[in-house]
Amino acid sequence: MMYQAAVFIHLASAIIWVGGSLFLALVLIPVLRRFMPAPGQPSEHPQLPPDLLGTVARRFRWISWVCIVLLVATGLYILPTRYGIGFAEFFTVGGHFVANLQIKVALVAIVIWLSVIHDFIIGPIASRMINDMQAGATPPGYLPLLRKCVVWIARVNVLLMVLILIVAVTMTRGAPV
Ligand code: HEM
Repeated sequence: MMYQAAVFIHLASAIIWVGGSLFLALVLIPVLRRFMPAPGQPSEHPQLPPDLLGTVARRFRWISWVCIVLLVATGLYILPTRYGIGFAEFFTVGGHFVANLQIKVALVAIVIWLSVIHDFIIGPIASRMINDMQAGATPPGYLPLLRKCVVWIARVNVLLMVLILIVAVTMTRGAPV
């Protein structure tokens, strides 16, 4: 029962986190872009809140971090209780399962690291500068570069999340032959 509950929470968190991230990248951001004013121009859609994307991003940020914590916690619970894999087994050269698990955990570490940079450091800085710019302040020259970095980190992160899903499935179900 505890194992099934842990797998349910693991899968539900993965669905919400990866699904929510893909929704932002493939639906919300492209649609908002269509309505965004060009730099220095007044908005043609004044009924849109000025910091809509920032507000959505901050709202989804805490949901996605709850999912990340739940994924890691349930994953670390399942490993010893179901598969007898502890710290020592994780750091040895094992069979198919352990090898896939090591790749998966390495990818998860990279995604968490990129998410910290995106969610807590350069995302909020870029968002603040864009708001200031829309309020009439002159933006620093490096703002376009910073914006590009935010966008590309987010894109690479979503791709890595999908890669984690593929590695997760080959880990438990075997690689296709
Ligand atoms: C340190 C982090 C993680 C650990 C230790 C871990 C561990 C595990 C384990 C042990 C299973 C097998 C569960 C079973 O008995 O069926 C599993 C399955 C799975 N994990 Fe993770 N996981 C982690 C993070 C993630 C993340 C971040 C995602 C999604 C982005 C994810 C997605 C999945 C999926 C989709 C499955 C189901 C695969 C299948 O049933 O074929 N996991 N994980």
